[in-house]
Amino acid sequence: MPRPPSPPAAAPPHRGCFVALEGGDGAGKTTQRDLLGSWLRGLGHEVVLTREPGGTPLGRVLRDAVLHGEDVDPRTEALLYATDRAHHVHSLVRPALARGAVVITDRYLDSSVAYQGSGRGLGPAEIRDLSLWAAEGLVPDLTILLDVDPATGDARRTGDPDRIEREPTEFHRQVRHHFLDLAAAAPERYLVLDAALPREQIHAAARARVAGLLPAPGPALTGRQR
Ligand code: TYD
Repeated sequence: MPRPPSPPAAAPPHRGCFVALEGGDGAGKTTQRDLLGSWLRGLGHEVVLTREPGGTPLGRVLRDAVLHGEDVDPRTEALLYATDRAHHVHSLVRPALARGAVVITDRYLDSSVAYQGSGRGLGPAEIRDLSLWAAEGLVPDLTILLDVDPATGDARRTGDPDRIEREPTEFHRQVRHHFLDLAAAAPERYLVLDAALPREQIHAAARARVAGLLPAPGPALTGRQR
Protein backbone atom coordinates (compact mmCIF):
# COMPACT_ATOMS: atom_id res chain seq x y z
CA MET A 1 0.00 0.00 0.00
CA PRO A 2 1.44 3.41 -0.87
CA ARG A 3 1.90 5.69 2.11
CA PRO A 4 -0.24 8.84 2.15
CA PRO A 5 1.87 11.98 1.68
CA SER A 6 3.02 13.39 5.00
CA PRO A 7 1.84 16.93 5.76
CA PRO A 8 4.43 19.66 5.18
CA ALA A 9 6.51 20.56 8.20
CA ALA A 10 5.00 23.47 10.11
CA ALA A 11 7.06 26.64 9.85
CA PRO A 12 8.83 27.59 13.08
CA PRO A 13 7.51 30.82 14.61
CA HIS A 14 9.26 34.02 13.57
CA ARG A 15 9.65 37.45 15.12
CA GLY A 16 8.93 39.47 12.00
CA CYS A 17 5.91 39.87 9.79
CA PHE A 18 5.42 38.32 6.37
CA VAL A 19 3.07 39.97 3.87
CA ALA A 20 2.42 38.81 0.31
CA LEU A 21 0.82 40.83 -2.47
CA GLU A 22 -1.05 38.77 -5.02
CA GLY A 23 -3.25 39.38 -8.02
CA GLY A 24 -3.35 39.28 -11.79
CA ASP A 25 -0.82 40.93 -14.05
CA GLY A 26 -1.15 44.71 -14.04
CA ALA A 27 -2.91 44.87 -10.64
CA GLY A 28 -0.44 47.40 -9.20
CA LYS A 29 1.18 45.05 -6.66
CA THR A 30 4.66 46.53 -6.94
CA THR A 31 3.36 50.07 -6.37
CA GLN A 32 1.48 48.99 -3.24
CA ARG A 33 4.46 46.97 -1.97
CA ASP A 34 6.69 50.03 -2.30
CA LEU A 35 4.14 52.33 -0.61
CA LEU A 36 3.82 49.93 2.32
CA GLY A 37 7.61 49.69 2.53
CA SER A 38 8.03 53.48 2.79
CA TRP A 39 5.34 53.75 5.45
CA LEU A 40 6.83 50.92 7.51
CA ARG A 41 10.36 52.32 7.31
CA GLY A 42 8.93 55.61 8.54
CA LEU A 43 7.63 53.73 11.58
CA GLY A 44 11.13 52.42 12.26
CA HIS A 45 10.81 48.84 11.03
CA GLU A 46 13.44 46.95 9.13
CA VAL A 47 11.70 46.31 5.82
CA VAL A 48 12.67 43.83 3.12
CA LEU A 49 10.90 44.29 -0.21
CA THR A 50 11.17 41.33 -2.50
CA ARG A 51 9.46 39.42 -5.30
CA GLU A 52 8.84 36.03 -6.84
CA PRO A 53 10.13 34.89 -9.14
CA GLY A 54 13.48 36.68 -8.94
CA GLY A 55 14.10 37.82 -5.36
CA THR A 56 17.65 36.43 -5.31
CA PRO A 57 20.53 36.24 -7.83
CA LEU A 58 19.66 32.60 -8.63
CA GLY A 59 16.00 33.62 -8.73
CA ARG A 60 16.74 36.20 -11.42
CA VAL A 61 18.23 33.47 -13.61
CA LEU A 62 15.18 31.27 -12.97
CA ARG A 63 12.83 34.20 -13.65
CA ASP A 64 14.42 34.81 -16.99
CA ALA A 65 14.23 31.10 -17.85
CA VAL A 66 10.59 30.66 -16.87
CA LEU A 67 9.24 33.91 -18.32
CA HIS A 68 11.46 34.54 -21.33
CA GLY A 69 13.22 31.24 -22.09
CA GLU A 70 12.29 28.33 -24.28
CA ASP A 71 8.79 26.98 -23.98
CA VAL A 72 8.46 24.46 -21.16
CA ASP A 73 5.72 22.04 -20.12
CA PRO A 74 3.53 22.92 -17.10
CA ARG A 75 5.36 20.61 -14.66
CA THR A 76 8.75 22.06 -15.52
CA GLU A 77 7.24 25.53 -15.13
CA ALA A 78 5.82 24.62 -11.69
CA LEU A 79 9.17 23.24 -10.57
CA LEU A 80 11.04 26.34 -11.73
CA TYR A 81 8.73 28.54 -9.62
CA ALA A 82 9.08 26.13 -6.70
CA THR A 83 12.88 26.17 -7.00
CA ASP A 84 12.88 29.96 -6.98
CA ARG A 85 10.64 29.89 -3.88
CA ALA A 86 12.73 27.36 -1.97
CA HIS A 87 15.90 29.38 -2.43
CA HIS A 88 14.16 32.71 -1.83
CA VAL A 89 12.60 31.57 1.45
CA HIS A 90 15.71 29.82 2.71
CA SER A 91 18.27 32.47 1.82
CA LEU A 92 16.35 35.73 2.17
CA VAL A 93 12.84 35.58 3.67
CA ARG A 94 13.41 33.38 6.69
CA PRO A 95 16.64 35.07 7.85
CA ALA A 96 14.88 38.46 7.60
CA LEU A 97 11.86 37.25 9.58
CA ALA A 98 14.17 35.78 12.20
CA ARG A 99 15.75 39.25 12.62
CA GLY A 100 12.29 40.72 13.19
CA ALA A 101 11.96 42.42 9.79
CA VAL A 102 8.75 43.05 7.90
CA VAL A 103 9.08 41.17 4.62
CA ILE A 104 6.77 42.16 1.76
CA THR A 105 6.85 40.00 -1.31
CA ASP A 106 5.38 40.76 -4.69
CA ARG A 107 3.79 37.31 -5.31
CA TYR A 108 4.27 34.10 -3.36
CA LEU A 109 2.75 30.66 -3.02
CA ASP A 110 -0.81 31.55 -4.08
CA SER A 111 0.51 32.57 -7.50
CA SER A 112 1.70 29.02 -8.05
CA VAL A 113 -1.61 27.59 -6.83
CA ALA A 114 -3.62 29.93 -9.09
CA TYR A 115 -1.41 29.96 -12.23
CA GLN A 116 0.08 26.46 -12.27
CA GLY A 117 -2.49 24.60 -10.13
CA SER A 118 -5.60 26.13 -11.65
CA GLY A 119 -4.57 27.94 -14.85
CA ARG A 120 -2.28 25.17 -16.11
CA GLY A 121 -4.53 22.46 -14.69
CA LEU A 122 -1.88 20.74 -12.55
CA GLY A 123 -4.18 20.67 -9.52
CA PRO A 124 -4.30 23.34 -6.77
CA ALA A 125 -3.80 20.83 -3.94
CA GLU A 126 -0.74 19.25 -5.57
CA ILE A 127 0.84 22.60 -6.31
CA ARG A 128 0.11 23.88 -2.81
CA ASP A 129 1.83 20.81 -1.34
CA LEU A 130 4.81 21.26 -3.66
CA SER A 131 5.13 24.92 -2.69
CA LEU A 132 4.74 24.25 1.01
CA TRP A 133 7.45 21.63 0.77
CA ALA A 134 9.70 24.08 -1.06
CA ALA A 135 9.03 26.82 1.51
CA GLU A 136 9.24 24.48 4.52
CA GLY A 137 5.69 25.39 5.42
CA LEU A 138 6.12 29.16 5.50
CA VAL A 139 2.82 30.94 4.78
CA PRO A 140 2.27 34.71 4.91
CA ASP A 141 0.78 36.34 8.00
CA LEU A 142 -1.34 38.33 5.55
CA THR A 143 -1.95 38.12 1.82
CA ILE A 144 -3.25 41.25 0.14
CA LEU A 145 -5.10 40.31 -3.03
CA LEU A 146 -5.41 43.11 -5.55
CA ASP A 147 -8.30 41.90 -7.60
CA VAL A 148 -8.12 43.00 -11.21
CA ASP A 149 -10.23 42.28 -14.25
CA PRO A 150 -7.86 40.65 -16.79
CA ALA A 151 -8.83 43.18 -19.48
CA THR A 152 -7.85 46.09 -17.18
CA GLY A 153 -4.59 44.39 -16.22
CA ASP A 154 -3.79 43.79 -19.86
CA ALA A 155 -4.39 47.43 -20.74
CA ARG A 156 -2.02 48.58 -17.94
CA ARG A 157 0.83 46.38 -19.13
CA THR A 158 3.86 47.91 -20.80
CA GLY A 159 6.54 46.10 -22.81
CA ASP A 160 6.49 42.75 -24.55
CA PRO A 161 4.28 40.08 -22.93
CA ASP A 162 6.07 37.21 -21.16
CA ARG A 163 5.11 33.51 -21.46
CA ILE A 164 2.31 33.84 -18.88
CA GLU A 165 1.00 37.18 -20.13
CA ARG A 166 0.65 35.67 -23.60
CA GLU A 167 -1.97 33.22 -22.31
CA PRO A 168 -5.57 33.89 -23.45
CA THR A 169 -8.02 35.93 -21.39
CA GLU A 170 -9.82 32.76 -20.28
CA PHE A 171 -6.64 31.53 -18.56
CA HIS A 172 -6.34 34.84 -16.69
CA ARG A 173 -10.02 34.74 -15.72
CA GLN A 174 -9.55 31.31 -14.22
CA VAL A 175 -6.49 32.52 -12.29
CA ARG A 176 -8.45 35.51 -11.00
CA HIS A 177 -11.29 33.33 -9.74
CA HIS A 178 -8.89 30.98 -8.06
CA PHE A 179 -7.24 33.84 -6.16
CA LEU A 180 -10.69 34.98 -5.02
CA ASP A 181 -11.60 31.45 -3.90
CA LEU A 182 -8.39 31.15 -1.88
CA ALA A 183 -9.16 34.45 -0.14
CA ALA A 184 -12.78 33.51 0.54
CA ALA A 185 -11.68 30.25 2.16
CA ALA A 186 -9.49 31.97 4.80
CA PRO A 187 -10.66 35.60 5.28
CA GLU A 188 -8.58 35.97 8.47
CA ARG A 189 -5.40 35.69 6.40
CA TYR A 190 -6.48 37.77 3.37
CA LEU A 191 -7.39 41.32 2.48
CA VAL A 192 -9.10 41.60 -0.90
CA LEU A 193 -9.05 45.03 -2.55
CA ASP A 194 -10.38 46.21 -5.88
CA ALA A 195 -7.31 47.11 -7.95
CA ALA A 196 -9.41 49.67 -9.85
CA LEU A 197 -9.64 51.92 -6.74
CA PRO A 198 -7.33 54.95 -6.47
CA ARG A 199 -3.91 53.85 -5.27
CA GLU A 200 -4.06 56.00 -2.10
CA GLN A 201 -7.32 54.35 -1.13
CA ILE A 202 -5.81 50.89 -1.64
CA HIS A 203 -2.75 51.91 0.36
CA ALA A 204 -4.88 53.24 3.25
CA ALA A 205 -6.82 49.97 3.46
CA ALA A 206 -3.63 47.91 3.31
CA ARG A 207 -1.98 50.06 6.01
CA ALA A 208 -4.96 49.68 8.32
CA ARG A 209 -4.80 45.90 8.09
CA VAL A 210 -1.00 45.56 8.29
CA ALA A 211 -0.88 47.87 11.34
CA GLY A 212 -2.53 45.16 13.42
CA LEU A 213 0.19 42.62 12.62
CA LEU A 214 3.38 44.54 13.23
CA PRO A 215 6.18 43.41 15.53
CA ALA A 216 7.78 45.96 17.84
CA PRO A 217 10.13 48.10 15.71
CA GLY A 218 13.62 46.60 15.76
CA PRO A 219 17.15 48.01 15.69
CA ALA A 220 16.20 49.96 12.57
CA LEU A 221 14.88 52.59 15.00
CA THR A 222 18.45 53.29 15.95
CA GLY A 223 19.28 54.14 12.36
CA ARG A 224 20.21 50.77 10.83
CA GLN A 225 17.76 50.90 7.95
CA ARG A 226 17.90 48.91 4.71
P1 TYD B 1 5.37 39.43 -12.06
O1 TYD B 1 6.70 39.62 -11.43
O2 TYD B 1 4.18 39.93 -11.31
O3 TYD B 1 5.40 40.00 -13.52
P2 TYD B 1 5.59 41.51 -13.99
O4 TYD B 1 6.63 42.14 -13.13
O5 TYD B 1 6.03 41.31 -15.44
O6 TYD B 1 4.23 42.11 -13.86
O7 TYD B 1 5.13 37.87 -12.28
C1 TYD B 1 5.69 37.20 -13.31
C2 TYD B 1 4.73 36.18 -13.86
O8 TYD B 1 4.94 34.92 -13.24
C3 TYD B 1 3.25 36.51 -13.69
O9 TYD B 1 2.62 36.42 -14.96
C4 TYD B 1 2.73 35.42 -12.81
C5 TYD B 1 3.71 34.31 -12.96
N1 TYD B 1 3.86 33.44 -11.78
C6 TYD B 1 3.39 32.12 -11.84
O10 TYD B 1 2.82 31.71 -12.86
N2 TYD B 1 3.60 31.30 -10.78
C7 TYD B 1 4.24 31.72 -9.64
O11 TYD B 1 4.41 30.94 -8.69
C8 TYD B 1 4.70 33.08 -9.60
C9 TYD B 1 5.42 33.57 -8.37
C10 TYD B 1 4.49 33.90 -10.68
